[in-house]
Amino acid sequence: MSDVVSRREFVASTAVGIAAAAASDIPYPMRPPRPLPPSSRWAAKPVALSSANGLRAAQKAFDMVMQGADTLDAVIEGVKIQELDPNDDSVGYGGLPNAAGVVQLDASCMHGPTKRAGAVGALEGIKTPSEVAKLVLKYTNHIFLVGEGAKRFALQYGFKDEDLLTEHAREVWLHWRANLNPDDDFLDVPEAEHMVVRPTGTINCDAVTPQGDISSVTTTSGLAFKIPGRVGDSPIIGAGQYTDNDVGAAGSTGRGESNIKVCGGFLTVEFMRRGLKPTDACLETLKRVVQLTEKRLLGADGKPKFSLDFYAVNKRGEFGAASLYPGRYAAHDGTEAKLRDTAYLYERPAASR
Ligand code: GLY
Repeated sequence: MSDVVSRREFVASTAVGIAAAAASDIPYPMRPPRPLPPSSRWAAKPVALSSANGLRAAQKAFDMVMQGADTLDAVIEGVKIQELDPNDDSVGYGGLPNAAGVVQLDASCMHGPTKRAGAVGALEGIKTPSEVAKLVLKYTNHIFLVGEGAKRFALQYGFKDEDLLTEHAREVWLHWRANLNPDDDFLDVPEAEHMVVRPTGTINCDAVTPQGDISSVTTTSGLAFKIPGRVGDSPIIGAGQYTDNDVGAAGSTGRGESNIKVCGGFLTVEFMRRGLKPTDACLETLKRVVQLTEKRLLGADGKPKFSLDFYAVNKRGEFGAASLYPGRYAAHDGTEAKLRDTAYLYERPAASR
């Protein structure tokens, strides 16, 4: 996909955005869309921010914000594009499965204006876990539902139980299983036939409305071939994402276990509360991650052998992102949805990666 959403895509996506902003088209909306105040009374520069796979999410969320939609409805509708896309094998339908060949999905979200949070972990059979997390947020006294209970909850709200394993994901999993152990009963598949597998992939989306309202969501199929039942950082409030409507929001993609230990979403928002700009807050969080990284995960040069990224927006609509190694992220700041370079801690070290 190009770095900028083309004019044709923009027009199409804006049209979709306008349609989606109609209350009847948003499943279980937080509130109906309402007119924006005149720009002279805007409290923030509206923005939608996402991970590098979220160019369409940033466009959609921004369009919806500008149509007066609620900020959480906007980011959820944004990431759903990726959840429903079978070609993104890191999120939702088509995500790479766990070690048993089963797709288990994680998601969480926070709604700044109402200070509410929702999450689901190890959810099977439902294509859009971000929506289920929103329903936990909106309709329950709880925050986090997992496994069978999360699925039963989703089915009660009319979600369909579907096979999430695409042919592509199944084939990648079969290759992984064949080569897992040279002594097992599955014959190894030659190196040349290996498919390229991204170990983790996830989408985060954060948006600020002209009124300064903020929400965030993160959704993922998690670490490919994980131990069944493993949940990563994405569904953990304060790790995968976090919003404080008085300060800002932050989210993460990459190695979840390393983020969980620093509560990276929360920590990044706390750095912004202390006055850091979004990009600097993300960099500070990454430094904390490195400080807390065990030796087995460091290369010979002392740098992490994994990737991790943070994305952040503040109450004024300033935004930024940072990663351990050079990366990209998507943002729409009122001009266009485009990919930008992240700030980073280290140049990619060839020797240890
Ligand atoms: N950050 C996604 C995961 O580790 O599951």
